[in-house]
Amino acid sequence: MTSFTRDGHSGTGPGDFTPDGCSVELYSQLSGNGETDIVLAALPPGATLLELGSGAGRMTRPLVAGGLRVTAVDESEEMLARVRPAVPTVHAAIEDLDLARQFDAVLLASFLVNTADDAHRARLLRTCGRHTAPGGHVLLQRQRDGLHDSLRAGSSWSRGELTVTVVSIEPLDGGVARTCLAYELGGRRWTQTFHSHELPEPRFEEDLAEAGLAVDAYLTDDRTWAQARLVR
Ligand SMILES: C[S@@+](CC[C@H](N)C(=O)[O-])C[C@H]1O[C@@H](n2cnc3c(N)ncnc32)[C@H](O)[C@@H]1O
Repeated sequence: MTSFTRDGHSGTGPGDFTPDGCSVELYSQLSGNGETDIVLAALPPGATLLELGSGAGRMTRPLVAGGLRVTAVDESEEMLARVRPAVPTVHAAIEDLDLARQFDAVLLASFLVNTADDAHRARLLRTCGRHTAPGGHVLLQRQRDGLHDSLRAGSSWSRGELTVTVVSIEPLDGGVARTCLAYELGGRRWTQTFHSHELPEPRFEEDLAEAGLAVDAYLTDDRTWAQARLVR
């Protein structure tokens, strides 16, 4: 069986990039897309939230505005420097994080759970469990089933002023694909190339169970957002 690491990630375009190939400039300019409403609907105002992979704070802003007490984590200092409003930030790799503190909820969004590196995924999920208070929640965003098959090179979609184009998608072994997406915004263009592992629901739930987590509910009709709880 082929195993994949994060080494295949890269980005091109103006400005700095994160180790997983995200453009800091691009993510600093993106506006919210409603995903934070899903998180806000799941948690009471005042809840503490550990946001893993916050980037430049695209989601942090509306989460704080919605009354959550957010701590933002990212392995990119350049991203964290852009997070507004000022919230506690932690510059760390999620897989290594151990704050010796638990939160009412932990957020692992942006398809980070779809990492093609199985060992890495296990560590990400254990970090979620380690930081969840008894009775608390882990909120995860996963790729929708069948996404890889539905993407075609050359297809594109727009959200506001952002246009995303599939430059290439190459199926590899075991449900993994190498995808290159181009992002165009304000006359500038970036690409990100990444490996992702399509995790059908049973496999997703199995991987969560390995980390001591169980899905309580899928929060969206497309079942890409899940709420899980600690089972040990
Ligand atoms: C696609 S961006 C999304 C950022 C933000 N969640 C958003 O929606 O705008 C992914 C972010 O996760 C961070 N990231 C990815 N893997 C990480 C890891 N293992 N540890 C810490 N940060 C990570 C990247 O540095 C990047 O800022």
